[in-house]
Amino acid sequence: MNKFSKIEPSYFSKDGCRLVWIGIDEDDTDTVILNKEELERLVEILKNNHVGNVELEDNVSEILINSDVVQFRLKDRDQLEAPSNDFRDKVLEYAKIPHDTLSVQTSSKEFYASGWSTDQTSKSPEKSNKPKMSLLQAILSGNPKKIDHEISPSDLFRIFATRRSTRKFAKTKVEDWKIEKILAAADTAPTAGNFQGLEVFYVKSKKAKEALVEAANRQPFVNAPLVLVFCMNPSRVKMNFPSEMLAKFSLQDATVAATYSQLAAHALELSSIWIGMIDEKKVQAILGTELRPSSILCIGYPDMRKPPKSRRKLKDLIHVLED
Ligand SMILES: Cc1cc2nc3c(=O)[nH]c(=O)nc-3n(C[C@H](O)[C@H](O)[C@H](O)COP(=O)(O)O)c2cc1C
Repeated sequence: MNKFSKIEPSYFSKDGCRLVWIGIDEDDTDTVILNKEELERLVEILKNNHVGNVELEDNVSEILINSDVVQFRLKDRDQLEAPSNDFRDKVLEYAKIPHDTLSVQTSSKEFYASGWSTDQTSKSPEKSNKPKMSLLQAILSGNPKKIDHEISPSDLFRIFATRRSTRKFAKTKVEDWKIEKILAAADTAPTAGNFQGLEVFYVKSKKAKEALVEAANRQPFVNAPLVLVFCMNPSRVKMNFPSEMLAKFSLQDATVAATYSQLAAHALELSSIWIGMIDEKKVQAILGTELRPSSILCIGYPDMRKPPKSRRKLKDLIHVLED
């Protein structure tokens, strides 16, 4: 069970906050981000010792405040919990004084494309004429402005920002039309010279899936409802470069294609785990190929939906070279 850890300032708005839970794994934190209004509502309920709920702006999550326990829920599923007393003390203590923002970081509710670029769908001229911050300016200033904007569930930036790996899949079968879309997504990926230096193995065989578990350092979740193995095929890359370069291209081709499939899976409300820890020889024997596998993508409906993991600060990731 995840343990409620702390409340800290938001990366974006000095009036919002981040509620952080520590996961089972060491590197695993679950963070729920509240905007100003959500935090105010939470504080109001807690201050008055009421029970109630705070609906979050993504329209799928809410915080339920009960007398004994506070729960963060995603689409009617229990996700994270904290004893009400501890949670109340920490939140009310935090709310006593104003806070400054932390630095910019991507997260489900912070990293919206519309925050950085011209909002072409905006009907309001005053709004769209406002100077917009570029992503770079936002990173450097640490204080980007978010523009209110309807985000569709399939908005690409929402897909990026809400994806979370899953290592426990529900038994539910993945629909064929979804499988087709995931495979087609791999096919739309860019490849070096458009030579498509990769092959995708769609592993339906139960026996082969079980064998892949063994070939992937006995990671049990490799036996997932949908298993795709991305292999490099440098012989397809008909370019006049040294073989090491062609090998590198085919590794990149296979990796980018797997990434496209992973994002497509998430857009289809599935979840996935990328497996890089594989014994290449064993995987080759299972697939009956001499092509080198680069990754296994295991996909299915998650047993439990979780919020995305946090990352290092964006400004620490981006290294800007200027004249
Ligand atoms: C190149 C690569 C190799 C990975 N190999 C494994 C693996 O063998 N086993 C595993 O459980 N997760 C593996 N992962 C998944 C990462 O642990 C996971 O993406 C990371 O913890 C970030 O979590 P997130 O995907 O939920 O954001 C791998 C991911 C990548 C990109």
